[in-house]
Amino acid sequence: MYIFSSETTPSENQSITHSILTAAEVSLEIKREDKLHKDVSGNKFRKLKYNLLEAKRSGFKTILTFGGAFSNHIAATAAAGKIMGLQTIGVIRGDELGRNLDKTLSENDTLQFASKEGMRFKFISREHYRNKTSSLFLEELKHEFGSCYIIPEGGTNPLAIKGCEEILTPNDKSYDIICCAVGTGGTITGIINSAEIHQTVIGFPALKGNFLTEEIKKYTSKTNWKLIEEYHFGGYGKINQEGIEFINRFNKEQHILLDPVYTGKMIYGIFDLIQKGVFKKNTRILAIHTGGLQGIAGMNERLKKKKLPLITIGY
Ligand SMILES: Cc1ncc(COP(=O)(O)O)c(C=O)c1O
Repeated sequence: MYIFSSETTPSENQSITHSILTAAEVSLEIKREDKLHKDVSGNKFRKLKYNLLEAKRSGFKTILTFGGAFSNHIAATAAAGKIMGLQTIGVIRGDELGRNLDKTLSENDTLQFASKEGMRFKFISREHYRNKTSSLFLEELKHEFGSCYIIPEGGTNPLAIKGCEEILTPNDKSYDIICCAVGTGGTITGIINSAEIHQTVIGFPALKGNFLTEEIKKYTSKTNWKLIEEYHFGGYGKINQEGIEFINRFNKEQHILLDPVYTGKMIYGIFDLIQKGVFKKNTRILAIHTGGLQGIAGMNERLKKKKLPLITIGY
């Protein structure tokens, strides 16, 4: 029944050996948050922990949240809700997906998984989806589904940030640089809050646009962080042949699978910065593997249609 304990749950740091690191005389370790749980992995585990504990404590029976058709957050919420004995409702972007649910589920691994975990869906148009934070729309949803604990898209809220503050542990104090992929900014904010003052936290946004700096500043007053915005590969959910080949090569060499939406772009960026000599000798870098591997199947379907190479799951 329980997935989240009151204790913090540390994940292992895996050391990377690579000629690029040796040449630059820097070290890189990857924090394997992706291994935290089979279905609720990476930052989803951290973001959902205090939200689901709070929902239970307050007596809610149902969690309602938002996401796109390939959302890691939707898949993880469905799985965590089931384990915790909470019903889940996913408000999904794209009303066309609801027209033939059987077809949608047979073609979309993320929604198929969430459905098997017991999640019910409400599909809405992209236009309507833009109201996802409007209090009027949230009231309508409560009216339709009854009392429910609402978690925003991507899972970011103050309790999610509190959970992400548990990613770094006292043993991580010796790193100079902490790297993290950024979507809504919640995960990096938790990391910034728990990082030591001598450490610099570097965020790699997975999407275009410079609104994230302001978003992160809403939640933290610390200043030992920056975003590097050159590694989004054209925007959210976009990747090219070079990115895919990098992910496959990294998996083959290191036996670590990266996802194409977040962590693949971050690790690509870290290697590029190292090659450009951005980090001085003896810098110790820790990169957070925030999971997201469930999305690879859906990405491979899209890559197939574009006649691009696929992401290799084994090695
Ligand atoms: C695998 C993965 N990594 C990183 C992120 C970015 O997290 P955040 O939205 O908290 O910035 C996400 C999105 O939640 C994600 O699914």
